[in-house]
Amino acid sequence: MLDVRGLRKEFASARGPVVALDDITLSIPQGSIHGIVGRSGAGKSTLIRCLTGLEQPTAGTVVLDGTDIPGLRGAELRAARRRFGMVFQHANLLDSRSAADNIALPLEIAGWSADERSARVAELLDLVGLADRADNHPGQLSGGQQQRVGIARALATRPDILLCDEPTSALDAATTRQILGLLRDLRDRLGITVVIITHEPAVVREVCDAVTLLGEGRVLETGSIGEVVADPAGRLHRDLIPLPPLPLGHTAGYVEVALGDSRAATTSVDAVLDLLRAADVPAEVAAATLETIAGRRVGRIQLEVDPARTAEAVRVLEAAHLSPEAAA
Ligand SMILES: Nc1ncnc2c1ncn2[C@@H]1O[C@H](COP(=O)(O)OP(=O)(O)OP(=O)(O)O)[C@@H](O)[C@H]1O
Ligand SMILES: [Mg+2]
Repeated sequence: MLDVRGLRKEFASARGPVVALDDITLSIPQGSIHGIVGRSGAGKSTLIRCLTGLEQPTAGTVVLDGTDIPGLRGAELRAARRRFGMVFQHANLLDSRSAADNIALPLEIAGWSADERSARVAELLDLVGLADRADNHPGQLSGGQQQRVGIARALATRPDILLCDEPTSALDAATTRQILGLLRDLRDRLGITVVIITHEPAVVREVCDAVTLLGEGRVLETGSIGEVVADPAGRLHRDLIPLPPLPLGHTAGYVEVALGDSRAATTSVDAVLDLLRAADVPAEVAAATLETIAGRRVGRIQLEVDPARTAEAVRVLEAAHLSPEAAA
């Protein structure tokens, strides 16, 4: 279990201290996949650096299985840092070395013998599906394959936690899915904890068990994916269940409704339309996103109604606890 309590990080600047993290509290159970999202400058990378002990927090604790990481120094800190593996947007492999030798690098640094290294590297290449690419140099590998090498290198010394800072941002959609599939597979097989920083809501939906939204150094929302998608009023709901944008130049007459709220009276598109019909405010479905996330049927519907009756439609849906929003 990785437990963060009251974490604060200030940086000194010419204009006084910059607060990068402010009272961050969250728990990440061993073996889970946790997404960290938030705008540029929200504090995501600073949080990761504080977790690994690379950065000393101004206040608060980071406890990994009972050990307070910011309290460690010297050899103990170095040992604790080996429990974290890091994966970045670009694998940053050494061009002069083969895939196998890139993966072997952290083992060389940690003083493993040549025999131990080659056995471990073969195991790792197999784990990331690159057993036949051991001798290829980075230039001979696709972006996705390079990222697999980067992941294998991060896992070489058997960390408990894999911290990934935008691991798929440089990859196309199909390769992103493969890498996310690999991360989930590694979690299942090795029981490691995976923390993924990402700008892409699709990454969170695809692979995360839980998610934390940071904004200006604070936790704005945190919870399991099931909890977050069941809360239409939450800030992440719209990102995780996206609708296409409204037609260009629309004026009025669009109402958005969330499905899947546990408090709502109905959970189907038909039931929502029936409600409106019964109130004599007919509506048509302009767009809808419906899916099953974390075993829960959730979705958002974009309804087109008579522009003069938008407010009425909103009232009818509110009475059924459906969290409607008139498009502005
Ligand atoms: N070493 C530093 N010195 C001073 N300020 C810093 C330092 N590192 C980060 N900051 C500030 O802390 C805040 C959070 O930065 P951080 O890099 O953690 O954001 P981020 O969420 O990772 O952003 P991005 O999505 O762009 O990578 C920013 O205001 C940044 O300018
Ligand atoms: Mg960052």
